[in-house]
Amino acid sequence: MTDTTASTDLTVRDVETQDETSVRDLLRAAFPSDMEARLVERLRHCGALVLEQVAVDGAGAIIGHVAYSRVTPAAIGAGQALQVACLAPVSVWPERQRKGIGSALIRSSLQKLGDIGEDLVLVLGPPAYYPRFGFDPVLARKVQAPYAGDAFMALALTEAGSRDLPIEVAFATPFQEFE
Ligand SMILES: CC(C)(COP(=O)(O)OP(=O)(O)OC[C@H]1O[C@@H](n2cnc3c(N)ncnc32)[C@H](O)[C@@H]1OP(=O)(O)O)[C@@H](O)C(=O)NCCC(=O)NCCS
Repeated sequence: MTDTTASTDLTVRDVETQDETSVRDLLRAAFPSDMEARLVERLRHCGALVLEQVAVDGAGAIIGHVAYSRVTPAAIGAGQALQVACLAPVSVWPERQRKGIGSALIRSSLQKLGDIGEDLVLVLGPPAYYPRFGFDPVLARKVQAPYAGDAFMALALTEAGSRDLPIEVAFATPFQEFE
């Protein structure tokens, strides 16, 4: 599926196999180390990715990337049926940052996550950035995870996503390097 965003020359689409080298180069440029590039490769290999998308400019270059991976609710309580995903990592080429590309990519991918039936999205990141997309540290307090504090935020995409809480969750194995 291809979504055209508010910017006329920016397209958000699913990652294809031939994009993987460009995505790795982008992740290495956007983050201080290659940890995030390795995280994405491991999430792909263990089948944990729920959605992986890129932002592509008018010339066809990949300028943004976002990955969402499966988060598993503990097998007790109403929340065990929730479809839960984690947003990480997200990146934009350094020279193209702060021009709205990251926001367009996140908004478009959250829309798709809702379309494919996800109930709840978790993120660990700057509290100054993610609330603009609806992520809420107060909602995340109902999610017991290896992360806590105001940098840990949650966004319900369905009614069940906020109703069937509290829950305890486990992140995909490759995240253990970040705990
Ligand atoms: C974070 C990132 C994906 C945002 O994409 P972007 O295209 O630069 O962001 P946008 O242009 O859509 O939004 C810009 C806004 O985000 C804010 N912002 C960007 N990065 C931020 C950060 N790390 N902390 C807090 N705010 C941040 C800017 O201050 C700006 O705020 P304003 O609208 O109030 O002026 C991008 O900056 C990036 O790749 N950073 C390096 C990798 C990274 O840190 N990823 C996030 C890990 S959680």
